[in-house]
Amino acid sequence: MKRVLIATEKPFAPAAVNDMAGILEQAGYQVQRLEKYTSKAELLDAMKSVDAMIVRSDIVDQEVLDAAANLKIVVRAGSGFDNLDLATCTAKGIVAMNTPGQNSNAVAELAIGMMIFMSRGQFKGVSGSELKGKTIGVYGCGNIGRRVARIAQGLGMKVVALDPCITKVSMEPYDVKVVQSVDELFSQSQFLSLHIPVNEKTKKSINFELLSKMPKGALLINTARKEVIDEEGLIRMFDERPDFKYISDIAPACHEELVAKYDLRYYSTPKKQGAETAEANVNAGVAAAEQIVAFFETGDQTYRVNR
Ligand code: 3PG
Repeated sequence: MKRVLIATEKPFAPAAVNDMAGILEQAGYQVQRLEKYTSKAELLDAMKSVDAMIVRSDIVDQEVLDAAANLKIVVRAGSGFDNLDLATCTAKGIVAMNTPGQNSNAVAELAIGMMIFMSRGQFKGVSGSELKGKTIGVYGCGNIGRRVARIAQGLGMKVVALDPCITKVSMEPYDVKVVQSVDELFSQSQFLSLHIPVNEKTKKSINFELLSKMPKGALLINTARKEVIDEEGLIRMFDERPDFKYISDIAPACHEELVAKYDLRYYSTPKKQGAETAEANVNAGVAAAEQIVAFFETGDQTYRVNR
């Protein structure tokens, strides 16, 4: 009998876990749950005899993979897979997958909510400004970026977009202005929402040079990853541009400094909550469970992210 571990330091909603367990048990698999674990040792111990695992942002590094002699597939129930050691997965013949698109609406709604929150002085009773007629830059045009563009259009915003990997053609149905360079994107966007993955190319790529191109009243919204921000440049931007604001779903290392110095110009959620909705949990969790069943029963590797 195949054993599937659901290992989530930040657990799914109970309804999602029930649905996932139902799908896996229906296929004849045994489900093992490790939720809210507080040490890596617990994860290593739980890995011992599993054939498959489902995680969220949980770190699946070489040590974790070494602990699982039978592991054949790991599915990141979510979009970003920077928490998976893909090279080790490949070396060990383990298939790694994500569940693209399943939590994108939740993240997009949070990005828009954050933009409104900051434009209205964090709801602290100060006079704010409206979004209608303003321009939002969408950096990264995958499932989340495209959804942000759609909602922003509903608010009467103009949308400019850029994705280093996606061509103009794929953005055509979205009626957004696709710019040709990242400099152009930042220069035209009073509001800028980040939806790029973290990789060697994007790490620390949001730097002072780029941020300083943003027009007056600039607001940067980060529901992507903290690693894409060059924090020295971020602090310099706060120092040199009193109009600049930043809101993030992933606290930067310089969080305390920004809180102490910049008050209404900075906010970070206490814990990443972009995908923390019942709907996103169910969508991503169920997709992960179904992908594991499809992989074992039919060899389906549609959402494989390592080769
Ligand atoms: C993702 O990459 O899917 C999001 O960042 C959500 O991550 P989470 O599952 O840790 O909330």
